[in-house]
Amino acid sequence: MIPENTGPAAVIVLAAGAGTRMKSRTPKILHEIGGRSMVGHALLAARSISPRQLAIVVRHERDLVARHVAELDPAALIVDQDDIPGTGRAVEVALQALDAEQDLTGTVVVTYGDVPLLSGQLLAELVATHEREANAVTVLTADLDDATGYGRILRGEDGSVTGIREHKDASDAERLIREVNSGIYAFDAAVLRDALTHVTTDNSQGEKYLTDVLGLARKAGGRVAAVVTADRWQVEGANDRVQLSALGAELNRRIVEAWMRAGVTVVDPATTWIDSSVTLDEDVRILPNTQLHGATTVARDAVVGPDTTLTDVTIGEGAKVTRTHGSGAVIGAGAAVGPFTYLRPGTVLGDTGKIGAFYETKNVTIGRGSKLSHLGYAGDAEIGEDTNIGCGNITANYDGEKKHRTVIGSGVRTGSNTVFVAPVTVGDGAYSGAGAVIRKDVPAGALAVTVAAQRNAEGWVAANRPGTRSAELAQAATTDSSSTPASTEEGK
Ligand code: UD1
Ligand code: CA
Repeated sequence: MIPENTGPAAVIVLAAGAGTRMKSRTPKILHEIGGRSMVGHALLAARSISPRQLAIVVRHERDLVARHVAELDPAALIVDQDDIPGTGRAVEVALQALDAEQDLTGTVVVTYGDVPLLSGQLLAELVATHEREANAVTVLTADLDDATGYGRILRGEDGSVTGIREHKDASDAERLIREVNSGIYAFDAAVLRDALTHVTTDNSQGEKYLTDVLGLARKAGGRVAAVVTADRWQVEGANDRVQLSALGAELNRRIVEAWMRAGVTVVDPATTWIDSSVTLDEDVRILPNTQLHGATTVARDAVVGPDTTLTDVTIGEGAKVTRTHGSGAVIGAGAAVGPFTYLRPGTVLGDTGKIGAFYETKNVTIGRGSKLSHLGYAGDAEIGEDTNIGCGNITANYDGEKKHRTVIGSGVRTGSNTVFVAPVTVGDGAYSGAGAVIRKDVPAGALAVTVAAQRNAEGWVAANRPGTRSAELAQAATTDSSSTPASTEEGK
C-alpha cells in the first residue's frame, strides 16, 4: 500500500462526455464490467496512487453520475463542466475548482472515466517517470495497429514528443502514425494552468483540446515526454457495447489468471467469471460455469460449481457448493449446498450443515450439522443443531398479510412433507410424522402427527428412542421447565 497523501497533488477524472454510441438510457460510465461501473474502476485506480485531491468532471446525465460517484467515493470533488466543449475545458474547470480549495502545485494527473482497465500501477509508473524526469507534461501512449480516431503523437527528429494532432485535424501523413494519445497524462500544475489560458477552440471540432497543452508547454521551454505502454487494454476506452464486452472479457481473464497464480484452481477460465471485488483463499477449486459476484468470499479448500452463480456469499473452509444460485448467504465450514439450490438473502448455514437439492431458503439460520436435504422451502426460520428436516418440508411463513417465524430446536427429526404453519415452535428432540401440518407448538421430545387432529405424544422420544441424541436433548429441555413449549392442549 502507498501511504496516504504521498501521491500527486491531484487526479482529475474526465467524465462529462455523452457516450451516445452505447445507445443507452444509462450513462456510459455507469455501465459495468467485472461487477463494477467503469467510473468505479477509474476512481479506484485514481485513489490507488494516493492523490491529495481527486476531482471528477461531469455534465451529461450529471445527477445520475454525481450520485453514483458520491456513493463510491464521497471525498471526490464533483465539478460541473459548462457549455464550452472539449477535454481542455473539462480540465480547466476542474483546476479552477481544485485551486479554489487550495492552490495546486506539483503533479496533476488526468484520466478518463471510461477506461476501466487502467491500473493504479501504470498510473504510478507515469507519475514516477514524470517526476523523475522533471517533465512539464508526460503523456501515456500506445502503438496501435489501427489508430483511427485517436490523437497521434508527433515526435521531432530526435524522437522527442513535440505535440499531439487529433485524427480529424491530421494530414494524411500524420494519419500514418501509429503511436496514439491515451488521454492519460501527468502535468505540472503551473504549466497546465498557464497553457490552458492559451488553448483556443480553433480546430475542426470547435473544442478546447487538452492535447494542445503539449505543444504550448514545449514552446514555453518545458520538457514533454511519453510513457509508452505495451498493454493496449489499459488505455482502451469503451465507446459501445461491443468494446464494453471485449474489455469485460479481458478484465475477467486477468482476474481469473491472478487468482490461479495466487493458488486457486480454475478448471475452465473461459466460463468462470469473477468480479474484481471477490476474494478467494488458496486451494479453492472453481468448477466450470461459475460466476462469483460482489463481496463473495471463499475460504480454503472449498469447491464451488459447476453451474453456480453467487453474489455476496461467504463460503467457509472446505464447503461444497454445487449448481447453486445464491445471494446474501453464509455457508459454514464443511457444509454442502446443492445441486439445484436457491439461497436467498439471510440464509446462514452452520458448519457441516446441508441444504440439498431443490431447496429454497431465505432469512433462515441453520445450526451446525443440521440437514435440509431435499425439496423444500425454509424461510423466516431458525433451526437448531443436528436437526434433520425431512424431504419436502415447508415453512408456511406467509399468512397473506404478514410473515411469521418458525423456530425448530436441536436434534429434531421431521417426517416427509411436514408443513410448519408459522408462527410455530418445535422443541428440541421432537419428531413429526409424514404429512404433518404443524399449527401448534410441539414440545421437546414429542412426536407430532396430524392424521386427523394434531396429537402430541408427550415423552414419545424418551420412550421410543431411548439413548439417542434426541432423547438426550429432549431430556435436557424438559427438565428445564422454563424452556418447555406450550402444552398441546392450548389453542384447541
Ligand atoms: C481524446 C483525445 C485524443 C485521444 C483520445 C483517447 C482530446 C482533444 N483528444 O479524443 O487525443 O487519442 O481522447 O481516447 O483530448 N470529456 C469531457 N468533457 C468534454 C469532452 C470529453 O469530460 O468536453 C471526457 C469524456 O467523457 C471522455 C474523455 O474526456 O472520458 C475523452 O473524450 P472523447 O470525446 O472520447 O475524446 P476523443 O475525441 O475521443
Ligand atoms: Ca474516446
